[in-house]
Amino acid sequence: MLKSQNKIYLGARKVLQQNFRGSYTVPSSELYPHQWLWDSCFIAIGLRHYDLQRAKQELISLKRGQWKNGMLPNITFHSEALNFDGDLWDSRISNFAPSDVKTSGITQPPMLAEAIYQVGLKLKEQQRIEFYKEMIGCLVRYHQWLYLERDPKSSGLISLVHPYESGLDNSPLWLAAVHRLRFPWWVRFLKIKNFRKFFNYFRRDTTRVAENERISLSDAVEYFYILNKLKKYKYDSRTILHKSRPIVEELVFNSILVRANQRLKLIAREAGYSLPRHLLDRMRKTEHSLDKLWDSETRQYYSRYMRSGKLIKRPTISSLLPLYAGSITRKRAAELVGQLKDHTAFYPHFPVPSVPINSKSFNPDNFWQGPTWVNTNWLIIQGLRDYGFHKEARDLKRQTIQLVADGGFYEYFSPFDGSGKGAPNFSWTAALTIDLINT
Ligand code: GLC
Repeated sequence: MLKSQNKIYLGARKVLQQNFRGSYTVPSSELYPHQWLWDSCFIAIGLRHYDLQRAKQELISLKRGQWKNGMLPNITFHSEALNFDGDLWDSRISNFAPSDVKTSGITQPPMLAEAIYQVGLKLKEQQRIEFYKEMIGCLVRYHQWLYLERDPKSSGLISLVHPYESGLDNSPLWLAAVHRLRFPWWVRFLKIKNFRKFFNYFRRDTTRVAENERISLSDAVEYFYILNKLKKYKYDSRTILHKSRPIVEELVFNSILVRANQRLKLIAREAGYSLPRHLLDRMRKTEHSLDKLWDSETRQYYSRYMRSGKLIKRPTISSLLPLYAGSITRKRAAELVGQLKDHTAFYPHFPVPSVPINSKSFNPDNFWQGPTWVNTNWLIIQGLRDYGFHKEARDLKRQTIQLVADGGFYEYFSPFDGSGKGAPNFSWTAALTIDLINT
């Protein structure tokens, strides 16, 4: 490790120490004081380089929030002091929710298999087998839930029922899907009247981070309305898939699932666990499912509406994520790498922006509408490596580490000047920087 990298490495460890809560790590002490699903996975991937016990614990702690039907919630609420968030989700309206802890009622990208696998790589064989055995039940039940509850057409593509499930909360593709819905009068009224002060009272983010860097008030109101529908249906997927909107077969989620399934097979093999046939059949379908999301006209991958099958043709960073999936052809991967390297779109001074800079929806400051994020860079780097684009992977890795070294451990960054935005001391930025330095 270079001397300059050692300084970043130590800084990153400090962030992860500050955000540690005994058995799990919060994404950010101020802004996100609970446990988030894919955050914990990214965090464990960093922790494995210096504290294997804690890395294992980070993942084991996710089991506490798992629902009886296998669902892993995107948020497990731990802090009694901030019960408002937990009450907002009110998970106990579902018979499947755990009774001893409050959680959200929706999930997040299935990074768990990758995280378990990556932590396992650092363990000695016997310990690895034990750890895999400890996690396999939770993991299998989660993947089974995805297929049983969220793949109504048996297409191999999982459907999402709320933008938060993608982890890319206000990405233009979600805003397009939400803005075409018709909302009741009170939602429209709140938006017209712009009850900014009233609503901001309930928002933690805009009291801590500049308003122009966060999801807009009017979008937040619509998201809140959709969440209320999910609650009305008691988080029952079958009813929701039938009655609620939008329902989207989302690209990042499904790309991550393709690789997760591969990892699940490896973990099961080492744990001596035989995966049920019906699960294997569905997993096989997923492997080829990304082809359905390819648009030959614009030569890009997109998410699509589950019901109509119509592609949501909004260019976002999601279009590059099939690289991480690993199931597309090398030729297609090369085409995506060509798009990645375009300086007028995905490769400005501080790549990779969450929306290409030449898109009408691009905004360099706002959350998932343009800023560069370390987790999506990390996913792309893994994909570049696996497809043999080693120079591109090395370049992006170097630029990502430099971005964090200069900008700090922020949640996201301006793709133009590299300035840090959103929450400071953000856990996955720290953890994945540690991983990039060490791999
Ligand atoms: C935001 C992000 C989401 C993340 C969460 C906690 O909601 O969009 O991906 O998991 O914050 O960090």
